[in-house]
Amino acid sequence: MTKLSVNINKIATLRNARGGNQPDLIKASIDCERFGAEGITVHPRPDERHVRYNDVFDLKPVVTTEFNIEGYPSEAFIKLVTQIKPAQVTLVPDPPEALTSNAGWDTVRNQSFLREVIAEFQRNGIRTSIFIETDLIMIEHARSTGTNRVELYTEAYAQQYSGGREKAIHPFVTAAKLVGELGLGLNAGHDLSLENLKYFKQQIPGLLEVSIGHALICDALYFGLENTIQLYLRQLKE
Ligand code: PXP
Repeated sequence: MTKLSVNINKIATLRNARGGNQPDLIKASIDCERFGAEGITVHPRPDERHVRYNDVFDLKPVVTTEFNIEGYPSEAFIKLVTQIKPAQVTLVPDPPEALTSNAGWDTVRNQSFLREVIAEFQRNGIRTSIFIETDLIMIEHARSTGTNRVELYTEAYAQQYSGGREKAIHPFVTAAKLVGELGLGLNAGHDLSLENLKYFKQQIPGLLEVSIGHALICDALYFGLENTIQLYLRQLKE
């Protein structure tokens, strides 16, 4: 079973555009779960241009599925996550000004840093996942960070999908096999969509969770949030 975690950052971005509380992020999160989402993901950035730190506190008591907080492990982020104690924290290496996550961790260069912050989250009972590309060396070194899971960065797959999906998926299948052999859990995300999700799920062994934001919220403009979540779930369950 692969869980669908809905990343609600885009809803916060829309709200922030006007300064009020429309759309209501808390209501949207409750509704995503009501419509079938099996997790809620947020990515509070230091400039709070999407989900704000306060939102994370407000979401904590209402998220009844799996709460996943993504971000770069700055001091402020570590403090926030250890206070909130979500089910999962996903660590990304992106600098504060990045538009969106655009690379996986260099697990060789950041080995001791990752090991330290991962241990801190785990001491607080929080499952850890680290965002990673399909480079096998990086995956091998992910294990020695002590992380519970890795999240495969799927942008390259999504971009190459229309030009030949067999070729696009190949490095992800190899990476997923190694992740399994190392005894790590496997998540995936970035640019997954109604077009490319089903094939990804079919080809990737042991996929525990996908986190999807941009495409899902875009689709919701046309199909509505409830239908859209159901459509995504169908790609994963069929
Ligand atoms: N996973 C990580 C680590 C991310 O940073 C993002 C984007 O915030 C996603 C998944 C979701 O990507 P998308 O919005 O393209 O679905």
